[in-house]
Amino acid sequence: MIKRSQPVRAVMSVNDAVREVSELLDSEARQSGVKTDLVLSPDLPAILADFLQVQQVVLNLMRNGLEAMKDILPDRRRLTITTARSPAGEIEIAVADFGHGLSVASAEQLFEPFFTTKTNGLGLGLSISRTIVEAHGGRMWMTSNATHGVTARFTLPQDSGKVSYDPVPDGIHR
Ligand SMILES: Nc1ncnc2c1ncn2[C@@H]1O[C@H](COP(=O)(O)OP(=O)(O)OP(=O)(O)O)[C@@H](O)[C@H]1O
Ligand SMILES: [Mg+2]
Repeated sequence: MIKRSQPVRAVMSVNDAVREVSELLDSEARQSGVKTDLVLSPDLPAILADFLQVQQVVLNLMRNGLEAMKDILPDRRRLTITTARSPAGEIEIAVADFGHGLSVASAEQLFEPFFTTKTNGLGLGLSISRTIVEAHGGRMWMTSNATHGVTARFTLPQDSGKVSYDPVPDGIHR
């Protein structure tokens, strides 16, 4: 993904952003033996947001999901991305995996910058993602699934208001 210093807010489709990222990760997912399902609501309104930044968030969450399923039974390796409209009129995006699940007592810890349990991780994906989402007036959280794995969710309001700063720390190109 390209780093861009000035967010560009424009009318965009969340479903298009999800579809493109899913295509981008297609070979990675296949190499990891993960089946990806998109469950995209057909009647989402267009929103005002930064297309690349929304894609960056979806990419970070999908990568985390893929990485969490590396060492589990091949049959269980499924990643589901859902989009829906909440009763409050926001758009909610969920990325659910069947991976190893949360390794910490509080999911909030995962959002701390540089928190990682991976040998090659920077620990920045979630903190950057939450910063992007909050700059758009949305929220982001992670919950454990009933059986296996976790679901990462975020919301985006239809009109994100003024996005006025660069959420990607200097010198970090992802
Ligand atoms: N889907 C998930 N299932 C289980 N644990 C997760 C999941 N997503 C994130 N985590 C945990 O949260 C930590 C922080 O995630 P984050 O995306 O911020 O950093 P990272 O993936 O370690 O590195 P990177 O900067 O490359 O994204 C991970 O190291 C992992 O321990
Ligand atoms: Mg990550």
